[in-house]
Amino acid sequence: MSEHHTAICPGSYDPVTNGHLDIITRTATVFEHVIVAVVDQPLRKGKTLFSADERKAFLDDAIEGLGLEHVEVETFSTLLVDFARDHGATAIVKGLRAISDFEYEFEMNQLNRKLAPDIESVYVMASPEYSFLSSTGVKELATFGGDVSDLVPTMVADQLAKRIQRP
Ligand code: PNS
Repeated sequence: MSEHHTAICPGSYDPVTNGHLDIITRTATVFEHVIVAVVDQPLRKGKTLFSADERKAFLDDAIEGLGLEHVEVETFSTLLVDFARDHGATAIVKGLRAISDFEYEFEMNQLNRKLAPDIESVYVMASPEYSFLSSTGVKELATFGGDVSDLVPTMVADQLAKRIQRP
């Protein structure tokens, strides 16, 4: 087994989208072990719609459906680099969609690098079909009764409809 075999795919995943699953699947082709790390309370994004356990359950279901056996899901409420170290990970993998993601990711990269220079952050470019897709956009569509069935796993679409669709 190579030295650099475990990667963390961190995120809020509120909720997971098909774009996230694309990034996770592609990360799993590069690393031998992938841990999808669901942050309990994302400070910068305010209160989540779904609890950490609900967000984890969506990911568990989707990842099982994709047959990704070397990918597991955990929740965390510590510094990301501490979580990565505790799990022997040497890489943090994040998806990048557009230039608009860059500033946010660049700042987190610098903070994480200052705390843990030994853990490298790696960026996977969104596939074109998902370059517009975000959890926020999905929640907005669902709130106003839009069809999100092409954008998220079926379980998520069902739960979104129950949780937020206006009458
Ligand atoms: O999907 P997101 O919202 O971009 O993911 C954000 C995440 C989970 C990567 C970020 O909130 C995070 O790392 N939280 C843990 C706290 C931490 O380590 N912060 C320092 C880096 S700014």
